[in-house]
Amino acid sequence: MTPHPQNIRVFANVDELLLAAAKDFAERAFKAVQDTGSFKVALSGGNTPKQLFDILASNADLGIESPIPWRDIHVFWGDERYVSHDNEQSNYLMTEDHLLSKVPIPKKNTYPVPTNSGKPDEDAKKYAETIRKAFQLKSTELPVFDLIYLGMGPDGHTASLFPGTDLVKSLAAGNDFHHQLVAALWVQKFEMHRITFLPALINQAKSIVLLVAGADKAPVLNSVICGKYQPETYPVQLITAPNSEKIWFVDKAAVSMLDNI
Ligand code: 6PG
Repeated sequence: MTPHPQNIRVFANVDELLLAAAKDFAERAFKAVQDTGSFKVALSGGNTPKQLFDILASNADLGIESPIPWRDIHVFWGDERYVSHDNEQSNYLMTEDHLLSKVPIPKKNTYPVPTNSGKPDEDAKKYAETIRKAFQLKSTELPVFDLIYLGMGPDGHTASLFPGTDLVKSLAAGNDFHHQLVAALWVQKFEMHRITFLPALINQAKSIVLLVAGADKAPVLNSVICGKYQPETYPVQLITAPNSEKIWFVDKAAVSMLDNI
């Protein structure tokens, strides 16, 4: 598979990356609400988004003409750790603490991943139904998010699509679970279940923004972007996004091993 030409925005450091990402979020939200009346976004977890949320919540001057239309923004999560929403590992709790508790997004417009039944597969199905209902879709339709944020771990995972898991092996072998939208999986390295968007859903988004910063990601990012297609090793390569706008927001450290950037 020839690697897609990549749309990569390189920033001097993570602070500049995050400011640009915050401005990008604001502009996308404003345009989506202007065009369709809402902005449906799926957030990712981890440390990079946390810093982005702090900027968005701080009302920092992003140099944009119009205020962020918080009341018309609908928030979903592209993946979640299978812990209660008051557990410090919860992506929902991180988002609540760093964003939702500080901006006027109506509670009814937030769609946390259910993690309380003790049955991860059941909760994954429930979440898929929640998404379909929010998008008013039939059971075989795929929702089109305005924006899906992704990160990338130093092991090439994205969302909760981790190398070495049966789910990723199956996806890399060509099973795309098309109508399933979401899946639960056991991640041995964390000794916990995760719930994650599947590539078929992610690849439907109008726009996908990958936030990748830090020298620890440079070796894998070089393989992901310049190397051959091997999604079992680098699950982020499953995000082929043939019909979406896919943009990497990276800092210089993360692309330090890419020779043609
Ligand atoms: C999670 C995230 C995960 C994250 C990467 C990168 O639930 O942990 O969704 O996929 O995006 O681990 O995290 P950082 O941006 O913090 O390096």
